[in-house]
Amino acid sequence: MNILDGKALAKKIKHSIKEEVKSFGRKPKLVVVLVGEDQASLVYVKNKVQACADVGFSSQLDMFEKDVEENVLLDHIRRLNEQEDVDGILVQLPLPSHISMHKVIDAIDPSKDVDGFHPNNMGKLFSGDLEKAFIPCTPLGIKLLLDEYNIDVKGKNVCIVGAGFIVGKPLSMLMLSYDATVSVCHKYTKDIVEYTKSADILISATGVPFLIRDFMVKDGAVVIDVGISKVNGKIVGDVDFESVSQKASFITPVPGGVGPMTVATLLLNTLKAYKQRL
Ligand code: GUN
Repeated sequence: MNILDGKALAKKIKHSIKEEVKSFGRKPKLVVVLVGEDQASLVYVKNKVQACADVGFSSQLDMFEKDVEENVLLDHIRRLNEQEDVDGILVQLPLPSHISMHKVIDAIDPSKDVDGFHPNNMGKLFSGDLEKAFIPCTPLGIKLLLDEYNIDVKGKNVCIVGAGFIVGKPLSMLMLSYDATVSVCHKYTKDIVEYTKSADILISATGVPFLIRDFMVKDGAVVIDVGISKVNGKIVGDVDFESVSQKASFITPVPGGVGPMTVATLLLNTLKAYKQRL
């Protein structure tokens, strides 16, 4: 079993961004918008802001009360769209239920949509225009991590467990773009094991701790764990690492796998936005 070391690759990517940014006259700038005080979200956005500082980007954290009116948030985003010095805008999800996620995402200028969630960018991903599109951070991070270990997805059975908007759906399209045979399982899938068992590359993004057990995994499979949950005060993933690592050829740890890659790809997307806007 080999570890897919996302922490190490993220560090390498951040180092190269930092070197590149040194020669820039103006620093790339990311604005992170957080609504409410969900503790996990707060940790994530602070990580993102810190990562900007680490590589020499400027950043700004705009916080709103959880009962903020939708229109106030939409107006704020429109103002950020107009600001010349803002390259990237990220609205942390999930949003409170009285706010329409789709309205908020649609309001972001696609050229500043470093999350890649705007229909314009999702559409480019769907149609295969990967050069121009902003690819959502977690799917892109997973692809770069596989690339780093020379794991080609072409012709492979890739099984994605979890069909969410942030990871499962865009990841399925990204994997399909690279000629994988993709199956996407979700909570209404009749027999998940039927799919996971035949996967050469198994990716779980559900947030259900220890969902993926050894009997569900093919010998020699590559296993990617996107889950982050807290169980008895400890950070764990979707994968029962102890048993599954006995069968997998490659596996991501939690923490230190996909998580750091998601932050690194956010920086890459912000750099891309900066360059495209020059
Ligand atoms: N919440 C969990 N993951 C993400 C992400 O990648 N982007 C945003 N905006 N919110 C998230």
